[in-house]
Amino acid sequence: MANDRRPDDMKRIATKEQAEAFIAEQVKELQAQIGDKKVLLALSGGVDSSVVAALLIKAVGQQLTCVHVNHGLLRKGEPEQVIEVFKNQMKANLIYVDATDRFLDKLAGVSDPETKRKIIGGEFIEVFAEEARKLDGIKFLAQGTIWPDILESEKGIKAHHNAGGLPEDMKFELVEPVKILFKDEVRVVGEALGLPANMVYRQPFPGPGLGVRCPGAITRDRLNAVREADAILREEFAKNGLEGKVWQYFTVVPDFKSTGIKDGKRTFDWPVIIRAVNTTDAMTATVQEIPFSLMQTLVSRITSEVPGVNRVLYDFTPKPSATIEYE
Ligand code: XMP
Repeated sequence: MANDRRPDDMKRIATKEQAEAFIAEQVKELQAQIGDKKVLLALSGGVDSSVVAALLIKAVGQQLTCVHVNHGLLRKGEPEQVIEVFKNQMKANLIYVDATDRFLDKLAGVSDPETKRKIIGGEFIEVFAEEARKLDGIKFLAQGTIWPDILESEKGIKAHHNAGGLPEDMKFELVEPVKILFKDEVRVVGEALGLPANMVYRQPFPGPGLGVRCPGAITRDRLNAVREADAILREEFAKNGLEGKVWQYFTVVPDFKSTGIKDGKRTFDWPVIIRAVNTTDAMTATVQEIPFSLMQTLVSRITSEVPGVNRVLYDFTPKPSATIEYE
């Protein structure tokens, strides 16, 4: 019988050997729980769902169906990496749904942050449920619930966001193989399962994705600017040894334009705001110091490579008074 709660005396998983012992035990428990039945998983490409996918592939192989919904608000290269790692390398049964148009059409003209989040969350469940309905004989729904999710929902801090949201008529039994683990342990287990380091150690990324970094009503061209600038920022941070050292870094493209000059001609384009922060619990955050030479490289690359951008700004504001994200 699987542990429903983290045993008080459980040692923190920090080594490959400990991770392998956990994996061996979980694989046995998953096989016992699932038998010859089918399992469904919403695979976002985030750490938790990726580790759950890898564990289930090891335990029940093709009995698992992963659904990766691209809501059009993912970072550059993310859907491609999910397909490469899970479909091509791990041979998972993966359904890829490019729902970009559906999400962006629904979001067109919507500027209120909470309404945007609700649309993204609601549409996500709808797309996932539609895919689930097309499949026969699914008995289980796997989820990347982790121990802090359970503690926080018990304390009433946040609703156990993983659990459900699916329509009433879709009843699945839950499979939650990492629910007694802390985040750092999930990463160690993910590495031992052979997932790439940039997937396992990636920075936090909100569910509504780049949508909250494109403040106000999202347009495709401004969203593209956020995505391209973010890719440059990630590339330069990696080149300069900041990847894995800075807790979270990203770009925002606000909905206003200012004048500039390019090739001797006046431009009227957006600024890109860079945000790079450190924190332990995301309740407060400090701003990362960035070497001036790196800033100059970022300004030069972003203004020359990202269409529609003529300025780069750095956000020096800690949390509080600002939040980490812009919406
Ligand atoms: P804020 O902006 O509130 O963000 O200072 C704190 C941390 O939470 C992340 N964040 C989210 N994560 N779904 C998530 O899974 C969300 O809707 C969401 N909103 C913010 C944010 O990226 C930061 O790490």
